[in-house]
Amino acid sequence: MTDQKHFRTQNATLRPDSLAFRLLVAADVFCRVARGQSLPNALSQSLDAIAADTTIRGAVQDISYHVMRKRGMTAFLCAELTDKPPKPPLLQGLLHCALSLLLHGNDAARYESYTIVDQAVRAAGSHPSLSRAKGLVNAVLRRFLREKNSLLEKAAQNRSAHWNYPDWWIDRTEKIYPDQWMSILAVGNMPPPLTLRVNIRKTTVAAYCRLAEAAGFRTAAIGPFAIKLLDPVPVQEIPGFMDGLVSVQDAAAQLAAPLLALKDGMKVLDACAAPGGKSGHMLELADIDLLALDRDRHRLRMIDENLARLGLKAKTRQGDATRSDWWDKTPFDCILADVPCTASGIIRRHPDIRWLRRPYDARELAMLSRKILENLWTMLKPGGKLLLATCSIWPEESERQAASLASLPGAVRLPAPGQLLPISGEREDHDGLFYALFSKHNGLSY
Ligand SMILES: C[S@@+](CC[C@H](N)C(=O)[O-])C[C@H]1O[C@@H](n2cnc3c(N)ncnc32)[C@H](O)[C@@H]1O
Repeated sequence: MTDQKHFRTQNATLRPDSLAFRLLVAADVFCRVARGQSLPNALSQSLDAIAADTTIRGAVQDISYHVMRKRGMTAFLCAELTDKPPKPPLLQGLLHCALSLLLHGNDAARYESYTIVDQAVRAAGSHPSLSRAKGLVNAVLRRFLREKNSLLEKAAQNRSAHWNYPDWWIDRTEKIYPDQWMSILAVGNMPPPLTLRVNIRKTTVAAYCRLAEAAGFRTAAIGPFAIKLLDPVPVQEIPGFMDGLVSVQDAAAQLAAPLLALKDGMKVLDACAAPGGKSGHMLELADIDLLALDRDRHRLRMIDENLARLGLKAKTRQGDATRSDWWDKTPFDCILADVPCTASGIIRRHPDIRWLRRPYDARELAMLSRKILENLWTMLKPGGKLLLATCSIWPEESERQAASLASLPGAVRLPAPGQLLPISGEREDHDGLFYALFSKHNGLSY
């Protein structure tokens, strides 16, 4: 683990606005992810530890997301350019981050090569556990620049380096989607669009587009409630965000609430609700009596915050959707089951996921979600609707789950989008979500 005292020590020697400082913090984030932490958690821990201001946060975040999208290539290059894995792990992190910037490919790479090398060497020199490795950092990065063409030619033969995914992920995607795998992997490496959902209780798509354009933003309406901001900015800078005019939500995620055809007065359960994106949308569409349940107390607070910003209300409750101890025994008219999954369909937003997941995760999570679905089914009114949603592209979590739901007593499968694939062209605006909708045959009661 990186010694935070050393970060504070080097604070004195490196200016926080220098690339060297940012590379060192991003290297720390990289190490945390390599140890299994999610990228958002790793970022907040590394940045909180140095009390980083907004500018540093943004810059470190850029490098950290960028290197996750290049990690297959940087791992290949590190192996080619060093005799054995460099130690300590922070040194590996620093090399990965510097190499990812030297590879270019997005905004994070707005530095000249000589600046990146110079700043990476300074970063090493400023940190007690890396100062002896200054020479190595210099040698590795300069050799990369000298031999770049031949190294990249060699890397093109290595699937993980070429696609920037673990081998098993590439193999699985190719096997499941023999015609679209390349497009799925390529789109997964692109920065995601910034898509907003318009809160129709407060404004309209057309009125919001006018407001955003008057504030200097270019917009594109891409769905009944969805607008893409063509010039992405941090959420606080999105016009009307703090007033609840819009929420940040992918276009595919915006399909969930309308599928349930909600009517005023319905008793609705959002069973895995945090952070409340889909809860908010359901409440924008109808005056429903919504129970927003989530197992995670910390994430549950995010629902309250999101709904308060939108001017909406629901009952929120901590509870486990595989159990019924939180249920008042009154059946629900509609249930949204946005079950836990590998999130393999939203990797462009979470580029760390591919490196954190293991091949057997989908099977294990499918077992949990199966338990959740069987339990929730007993809480649905005869004639009611249950929507299964996942943000996965693996069939064991999506289509196979839907097939087993269809075998539950009284289940009738209704039309719904099924598997949405994030592929080039018209689907580029959609994350890889899955939807299956069921009604419970009238006359059955539990
Ligand atoms: C995909 S996220 C839900 C996203 C949310 N529906 C939205 O649109 O903002 C899945 C959620 O399921 C929750 N969860 C996982 N296992 C659960 C369980 N057994 N019972 C209830 N919630 C659970 C997680 O804490 C997580 O917040």
